Amino acid sequence: MRVLVTGGAGYIGSVVTEQLINDGHAVVVYDNLVKGHREAIVAGAEFVQGDLLEADKLSRTLKDNRIEAVIHMAASSLVGESCEVPAKYYHNNVVAGLVLLNAMHDCGVKKIVFSSTAATYGEPEAQPIFETALTNPTNPYGESKLAFERAMHWYEQAYALRYASLRYFNAAGASEKCGEDHDPESHIIPITLQAATGKRTHVEIYGDDYPTSDGTCVRDYIHVIDLARAHILALNLVAERSGIYNLGCGGDGYSVRDVIETARRVTGKEIPVRMGARRPGDPAVLIASSDKIKSDLGWQPQFQDLGLIIESAWRWMLAHPNGYGSQ
Ligand SMILES: NC(=O)c1ccc[n+]([C@@H]2O[C@H](COP(=O)([O-])OP(=O)(O)OC[C@H]3O[C@@H](n4cnc5c(N)ncnc54)[C@H](O)[C@@H]3O)[C@@H](O)[C@H]2O)c1
Repeated sequence: MRVLVTGGAGYIGSVVTEQLINDGHAVVVYDNLVKGHREAIVAGAEFVQGDLLEADKLSRTLKDNRIEAVIHMAASSLVGESCEVPAKYYHNNVVAGLVLLNAMHDCGVKKIVFSSTAATYGEPEAQPIFETALTNPTNPYGESKLAFERAMHWYEQAYALRYASLRYFNAAGASEKCGEDHDPESHIIPITLQAATGKRTHVEIYGDDYPTSDGTCVRDYIHVIDLARAHILALNLVAERSGIYNLGCGGDGYSVRDVIETARRVTGKEIPVRMGARRPGDPAVLIASSDKIKSDLGWQPQFQDLGLIIESAWRWMLAHPNGYGSQ
């Protein structure tokens, strides 16, 4: 298939691109490099540097490359920032997203796989979270992703667009070539590993009085290669129909202390920790159920063990001590 990956120079998009190319697909990466890295663009992919808001460039890219499907990863995705600057999130995740949908419509591209987020659910009443749970986002990031999902729904009704929306929490780990290099970094696994290398003085734990086994928040983590495989499986779905799928870790999740202890074991480093206060709006447990995508699409994650996830992230960090800047 000829696939356009928006955000293919970013963390997850680069691994999606890598897996697509390994499977023999032709890939065009479309990225403005505002957050992505030129060095993360996988060999064998075409690269177009452009913004989703550049409608003409986007349409030309779709047409010239005879694109058959889009995997849409490009977005702004910092929850805290979205609360401070909601305008940025509506602009990049909704307005720019609509430019993409309209370009697809104009060019006759009818299939899209969208990297959504489990933040669309807000603070659900029950765990694990199923696709039937109420969507009630508690921040503009989740709200903007949900708005784009609703747009895809209506484009399906009117224009026969077929979409798959994947909702998940925390991507983690690395492939051999592609890893996580965000600035600022907000994810606990790279932050913990940066404390292991001495790049940070410590890891802060935001509260240890939650109603969980060790008092720290419990989250689910999905290996970025397993995530990429789910996006590629979803391409098969949109050949026939649309759907919304959650992706989760498949078990009871891992506490913040589990992450730190596992990172200590994997790295052999002490990793200093400081206790901080709870952050407002952090639920005790957030875990998504993967039952539906397993039964409908046959998703079989291969790296669900936290140790495997952290080992892969650590290998990548040792090989890239300054992220992509060190290549
Ligand atoms: N990282 C996670 O844990 C996580 C969890 C749930 C959902 N997601 C979603 O997955 C997607 C990828 O996340 P990531 O962690 O790889 O993010 P990332 O920031 O590493 O990658 C996003 C890429 O999109 C590009 N981009 C952003 N806006 C653009 C625009 N207007 N035009 C062109 N390119 C643009 C950036 O330059 C970057 O390369 C996002 O949509 C995010 O919301 C991520």
